[in-house]
Amino acid sequence: MNILITGSNRGIGLEAAKQLGSRGNRVFITARSESDRSEALKILNKIGINCRGFLLDLSSTASIDAFLYSFDEDIDVLINNAGVHLKGSPSNIEKAVLMDSFGVNIMGPWYLTSNLIPKLAKSKNPKIINVTSGAGAITSQHHSPIPFSAYRITKLAINEYTRMLSKELPTWKINAVCPGWVRTRMGGKNANSTVEEGADTITWLAEENQETGNFYRFRNIIPW
Ligand SMILES: NC(=O)c1ccc[n+]([C@@H]2O[C@H](COP(=O)([O-])OP(=O)(O)OC[C@H]3O[C@@H](n4cnc5c(N)ncnc54)[C@H](OP(=O)(O)O)[C@@H]3O)[C@@H](O)[C@H]2O)c1
Repeated sequence: MNILITGSNRGIGLEAAKQLGSRGNRVFITARSESDRSEALKILNKIGINCRGFLLDLSSTASIDAFLYSFDEDIDVLINNAGVHLKGSPSNIEKAVLMDSFGVNIMGPWYLTSNLIPKLAKSKNPKIINVTSGAGAITSQHHSPIPFSAYRITKLAINEYTRMLSKELPTWKINAVCPGWVRTRMGGKNANSTVEEGADTITWLAEENQETGNFYRFRNIIPW
């Protein structure tokens, strides 16, 4: 399969590229800078993975347009993995935090996905996997740490986006994944899952034929 993974120069995205690439898939990674793009490709090439790297900043529609113009591959699976976890409460938020949280976590993936639908439609078994978070579950919003409302609200939005898209395209496999609390730059060193465990459900959904319109963590369906 041909698989595009956003935000894959480090963290869970890079690990997903390693897992999927090492099982014979062709992977397309994205990074925001040329140096991060070439560094990640070096890591993947060293372990024999068939891959290409592209530049993409999801907070900028101009960058998404430039990516779409340069992206000359067909894909079977889109993994919207890139994300930011920024501090911003309902009563106190900086403009940059608001714009970045919504840009990277929901608006960018929505704009990118809708523009990639024609490519995905050519696949026999198109799949979209949105890497969201349990923090975005409507059933857990009452536990919300208020200072991270910007994160929770944007993850809630991409969860709902996943549900609606799966209803609009009922023959496709479109799901959301919470990777758990993972030891990456975002999750920090005290998180309880390894990056390999964090990427596992994402790569499992990419390769196996699961149902559509669900929210998963550790290969189990969890409440929205
Ligand atoms: N780690 C956890 O405990 C945890 C828990 C629940 C959900 N998640 C979700 O899992 C996904 C991956 O998280 P992670 O832990 O691997 O985080 P990470 O280590 O911080 O990596 C985030 C990735 O997103 C990219 N990114 C950030 N801003 C971007 C932008 N404007 N445009 C394009 N890419 C951008 C980063 O690129 P740069 O290197 O350029 O910044 C990086 O490649 C995220 O959606 C996150 O919300 C993580």
